[in-house]
Amino acid sequence: MMTKLGIIVGSLRESSFSQQWADNLADMFPGDWDKSFLEIGDLPLYNEDFDAEGANPPSEYNRFRKEMSEVDAVLFVTPEYNRSMPATIKNALDVGSRPYGDSVWDGKPALVASHSISGISGFGANHSIRQSLVFLNMPVLQQPEVYLANSQDLLEDGKINNEGTQDFLQSVVDTYVDFAKKFL
Ligand code: FNR
Repeated sequence: MMTKLGIIVGSLRESSFSQQWADNLADMFPGDWDKSFLEIGDLPLYNEDFDAEGANPPSEYNRFRKEMSEVDAVLFVTPEYNRSMPATIKNALDVGSRPYGDSVWDGKPALVASHSISGISGFGANHSIRQSLVFLNMPVLQQPEVYLANSQDLLEDGKINNEGTQDFLQSVVDTYVDFAKKFL
């Protein structure tokens, strides 16, 4: 049976390191994991009026909620913006969490990876996502944690340039795959 992994990337810019990390991580999953990148950059900012009785939510909300509802597990790859998660991811979490009682996140096992171009490695972003995932009732892989520092030194032409980082991330994915199985 295939496991469907939804990948959410917090940066929208074309040469994003987050996207490059996400591409590398995606390649580390076993063959029976079906991976898809979920578009979040086009979601209008969450407005409860869109979900009011008789209202028509934006088509982007409907698309995202449908795609997410078909996913078994979620990988978040994020930069840090001002010591927190970028608005893209917070908005996606909010959109997917409503209408009340119909959250697309509930119970889905998650892996959170953060990066930055400094030594701080997105710790604040990583933990702000983890904070929301507690309320959204998503089991999150606790260890190993994934904080990728100085991304510009670890990636070359979109690929990881050293064995240590490659091996570490492969061990993270292997651990996550075992962890996720408990919730599928
Ligand atoms: C940043 N950056 C950043 N870096 C960091 O380590 N801590 C931070 O709090 C912030 N804050 C921040 C805010 C905003 C609005 C921007 C645009 C950037 C720098 C960030 O690490 C760098 O731009 C990364 O390259 C962003 O990730 P992507 O776009 O390469 O995936």
